Amino acid sequence: MKKIENLLTIEELSNEQINHLIEKSIYFKNNKTIIPKLKKDIFIANLFFENSTRTHKSFEVAEKMLGFKSIEFQTETSSIQKGETLYDTVLTLGSINISGLVIRHPDKEYYKELLQSKNIKSKIINAGDGVGEHPTQSLLDLMTIYENFKTFKEIKVAICGDLKHSRVAHSNMKILKRLGAKVYFAGPKEWFENNYNDYGEYKTIDEIINKVDVLMLLRVQNERHTDRLNNSINYLEEFGLNISRYNRLKEGSIIMHPCPVNRNVEIESSLIESEKSKLLEQMTNGLYMRIAILYELFKDEF
Ligand code: CP
Repeated sequence: MKKIENLLTIEELSNEQINHLIEKSIYFKNNKTIIPKLKKDIFIANLFFENSTRTHKSFEVAEKMLGFKSIEFQTETSSIQKGETLYDTVLTLGSINISGLVIRHPDKEYYKELLQSKNIKSKIINAGDGVGEHPTQSLLDLMTIYENFKTFKEIKVAICGDLKHSRVAHSNMKILKRLGAKVYFAGPKEWFENNYNDYGEYKTIDEIINKVDVLMLLRVQNERHTDRLNNSINYLEEFGLNISRYNRLKEGSIIMHPCPVNRNVEIESSLIESEKSKLLEQMTNGLYMRIAILYELFKDEF
């Protein structure tokens, strides 16, 4: 298997690499006492230019569990406030012996400029690039689906909601199709873009609710909207998971959501911790998937 050097998009990973990361993360989850430790000091910095709870903190815990020296980077007190560019920040951190950078940034494909430079030596892990991609979330979602169904072939997945602004949707639609799942989309039609037809079919949530194995809900990303929905729309009743739709879900089906949730918008509050919900499991899986990712990127150092 080809070594993983950086993790920028889900598409750059082969099926073999993805399956390996899933196996490894499940193994670490089930064998917590044998998580490997680095043989020497390696520094990693977490650069979050957009807010995060799950991704940021699970990377921090994963780094500590593997024995990395984690460096927190505060955008508000850094030289970014004096006009330093992302490129210059990354160049600086590489020059002071920081070998890995976990970066969330509002610019789509922010990493492209960084990769062009021979002077940037730190490994880069994309923790979300604007409306682009969120590969580590996608991997933990795949882990969660695999844990439940032991395959992706012919698994029916409906990705529902704010498709246009969701990097989780953009990563997942591509990879789920490649792995053999059958993808459907639901939600406000104005957030369905034509190119999504390459990955799956648009249906209303009521047309597919009783057919899917995985109902993958998306957060309504109000902070990215330039085209807000009409205020008179009751999102939960039109597009979300309410109790009557929950009762129509297939036996054995699961509910997913990358979180944070807008309670009573994408999902009725009382369903967040319901029997079919895997929302908390996804968060736990995020930790073990990030351990597996860091382990693979720095494999020679363990
Ligand atoms: N799912 C996810 O990326 O959550 P955070 O924004 O809290 O990291």
